[in-house]
Amino acid sequence: MIYSYDKAVLLFVTAAFSRPLPVAAYSFSTSGTTLQLNGIPYYAPPDSVGEVPRTSFQVNESVGLLPITILNINESVAATDVYSIAASFSEQDDVFQDGFLQGLYVQQVNKKQTRLKTTIIGNSTTLWTTSSPGDTRLPNGPYFVSVTGRLHQAYRLYADVQGAFSETSILDPDGSYSVLPANTPGQSLAVAVPSRLYYKKTVEKPLAGVRLGVKDVFDIRGLKTSNGNRAWYHHYPAANQTARAVQNLIDAGAVVVGKMKTSQFANGESATADWVDYHAPFNPRGDGYQDPSSSSSGPAAGEAAYAWLDIALGSDTGGSIRSPAQVQGIFGNRPSHCLVSLGNTMPLCPQFDTVGLFARDPVLWAFAAGALYGSNINFTNTYPSKILTVGFENQTETELNSVLARFLADLTGFLSANVTLFNLDEYWATTNPGALPLVSFLNNTYEIVSAKEQARLVRDPFFRDYSAAHEGRLPHVNPAPLSRWAFGDNSSSTIEEGIANKTRFMEWFNTKVLAPDANTCSNNLLVYVPRTPEPVYRDSYRTGPQIPKAFSTSRISVMSETPDIVVPIGQVAYYSSVTSQIEHLPVTVDLMAARGCDGMLFSLVQGLYDAGIIGISRPGRSNIQGQGVLF
Ligand SMILES: *[C@@H]1O[C@H](CO)[C@@H](O)[C@H](O)[C@H]1NC(C)=O
Ligand SMILES: *[C@@H]1O[C@H](CO)[C@@H](O)[C@H](O)[C@H]1NC(C)=O
Ligand SMILES: *[C@@H]1O[C@H](CO)[C@@H](O)[C@H](O)[C@H]1NC(C)=O
Ligand SMILES: *[C@@H]1O[C@H](CO)[C@@H](O)[C@H](O)[C@H]1NC(C)=O
Ligand SMILES: *[C@@H]1O[C@H](CO)[C@@H](O)[C@H](O)[C@H]1NC(C)=O
Ligand SMILES: *[C@@H]1O[C@H](CO)[C@@H](O)[C@H](O)[C@H]1NC(C)=O
Ligand SMILES: *[C@@H]1O[C@H](CO)[C@@H](O)[C@H](O)[C@H]1NC(C)=O
Ligand SMILES: *[C@@H]1O[C@H](CO)[C@@H](O)[C@H](O)[C@H]1NC(C)=O
Ligand SMILES: *[C@@H]1O[C@H](CO)[C@@H](O)[C@H](O)[C@H]1NC(C)=O
Ligand SMILES: *[C@@H]1O[C@H](CO)[C@@H](O)[C@H](O)[C@H]1NC(C)=O
Repeated sequence: MIYSYDKAVLLFVTAAFSRPLPVAAYSFSTSGTTLQLNGIPYYAPPDSVGEVPRTSFQVNESVGLLPITILNINESVAATDVYSIAASFSEQDDVFQDGFLQGLYVQQVNKKQTRLKTTIIGNSTTLWTTSSPGDTRLPNGPYFVSVTGRLHQAYRLYADVQGAFSETSILDPDGSYSVLPANTPGQSLAVAVPSRLYYKKTVEKPLAGVRLGVKDVFDIRGLKTSNGNRAWYHHYPAANQTARAVQNLIDAGAVVVGKMKTSQFANGESATADWVDYHAPFNPRGDGYQDPSSSSSGPAAGEAAYAWLDIALGSDTGGSIRSPAQVQGIFGNRPSHCLVSLGNTMPLCPQFDTVGLFARDPVLWAFAAGALYGSNINFTNTYPSKILTVGFENQTETELNSVLARFLADLTGFLSANVTLFNLDEYWATTNPGALPLVSFLNNTYEIVSAKEQARLVRDPFFRDYSAAHEGRLPHVNPAPLSRWAFGDNSSSTIEEGIANKTRFMEWFNTKVLAPDANTCSNNLLVYVPRTPEPVYRDSYRTGPQIPKAFSTSRISVMSETPDIVVPIGQVAYYSSVTSQIEHLPVTVDLMAARGCDGMLFSLVQGLYDAGIIGISRPGRSNIQGQGVLF
């Protein structure tokens, strides 16, 4: 038995080797390197950005890469100059550190051509080169040089401790993106940010080096889109085109660092109960266990938490930018409908969908809006002198009311304006005698139209595609979108009827309430208090998806296509049942103007910032003081 067994094996082996080896063609590539420099994690992408002679620097072969600094200077430098340059780099950039001074690569411009030479400055081996003014030179900053002399950019790795990202990315040389192949302690994902020193803001690239997170409903070439649904992510291939809105920001110089979490199919979901497929991001404010709101939860939570993230892109159909901006205490805008492209973006309801930005810094926010809107924005700075208010009428002496009253007084003073209390329902009733009360006329119009549209545009094709690929099975969908779609299926109203109501309201509102004005863009400014800040804990047990709420102030912009922006103005104290201490929640207001007056609103916010009426929102536990996020 043994003999024949061996013989069989032998025969098999002989047969195998007597034919050409059946070695499958294989592809093999490096996906970059992760390293630690003085305890800080870094990533070096696989593609090099330049080369130096391999003997220029002593690169330890067992490590493979040496951290160096590129300097563009014309004069000779002494060790003291190097240390003062390094200090200024460290101040401007969170990626640079003194560990990169192990080598210096000095690029001098317009010097008489000399041979490459190396010297020692302080502790740094220094390589000197010269080039003509027209030559392309590598920008200043931290790099890694390989044993073969290849230069790689340095990315610093941060941990997404708030769980705000769904997938993090790295730019490939062909302009597409790959999933970042790195991890770091801290949970959940690692995020790679390039050195700020590589970028110089110019008129063409006003966002050069600005780090951007993108809600995972926008396509980015090379990455998969999840729309917050696991089955969707796995069923469809990576996007082959980048959404126009994202591309506008990239074209202006922004650097995409990853996709950020959305509640499923951008429907309203409560943390933690409704977030079945993915875990809701952590709102950094207060005790750190507050609902981040939805649907642009990831972009807002990340923007409010991370100093290293500059702006984030979201979408707002019925409040998906404004609500997260309010509870996270950051700037966020719902644009006038149609001013920002919805191309290659998951629809909830195209008649209501808009694309806008989160930021902590109102000046950067306006710059980014300029790039996002392209030619669809004019930053005019002649402002309305009439303010309509909703929600400020409460005279009770509370901390909240004093924050609100102070802001309104400052705004009124800034604009030398008159304030009128505005009651939408009453004004509708008096100017539309005989019509249904507004709350009945627009009752659930939003929910019915958006549910029917998303079922038609997203659910039905998804179920068809998935079921064809899985022998008739259906994919898992979270309870909130399922319930919303069922609500639409149940309604006997048609999309056309809902849109007819919306259009009638819009025509009334855009002539009688917020109308165009030749001088001030909008006849009035409408300012409303969007919510009373109070704790909404992410560990609450809930009864399941709720029936839609009645028409309210936050739906006005949805129905009238007007811009509606969130401005943080302060904070209020609350007693936290988590920490058993007093913590703070952000206070925000919403500003609205006539359709198309987005640029006027952005300019107004900058004016309020310059006048010291509002400030930059801080990352961390408090939008006013910053401070570390609680875990
Ligand atoms: C190269 O790096 C390895 C690992 O850090 C270290 O053990 C070794 O001493 C280094 N060699 C030289 C020549 O510095
Ligand atoms: C170096 O000199 C050239 C020509 O004089 C000038 O254009 C360039 O800006 C200088 N670069 C630096 C970094 O000083
Ligand atoms: C330079 O090297 C010396 C000796 O190795 C060290 O004590 C000193 O801290 C280094 N200086 C800098 C700025 O790295
Ligand atoms: C890009 O993707 C879309 C959607 O999956 C597909 O219809 C189209 O054929 C693709 N185009 C190319 C050039 O691959
Ligand atoms: C911006 O202003 C120009 C010139 O007044 C005008 O033609 C254009 O329609 C305006 N664009 C928007 C989006 O308001
Ligand atoms: C006024 O505000 C207080 C707390 O801010 C609240 O308890 C009260 O219900 C409000 N009253 C009205 C009429 O809105
Ligand atoms: C504000 O109201 C006062 C008194 O009603 C009026 O005289 C003034 O013209 C108003 N100002 C504006 C800017 O409407
Ligand atoms: C709005 O619709 C709901 C059903 O979704 C109904 O219960 C409620 O009475 C309606 N409200 C008004 C003011 O018509
Ligand atoms: C839809 O209608 C069915 C049958 O009347 C009802 O059981 C279900 O609760 C309704 N669903 C929603 C979300 O309104
Ligand atoms: C539209 O308005 C009519 C009243 O004119 C109302 O009966 C109907 O429920 C509304 N439908 C929707 C979808 O808003």
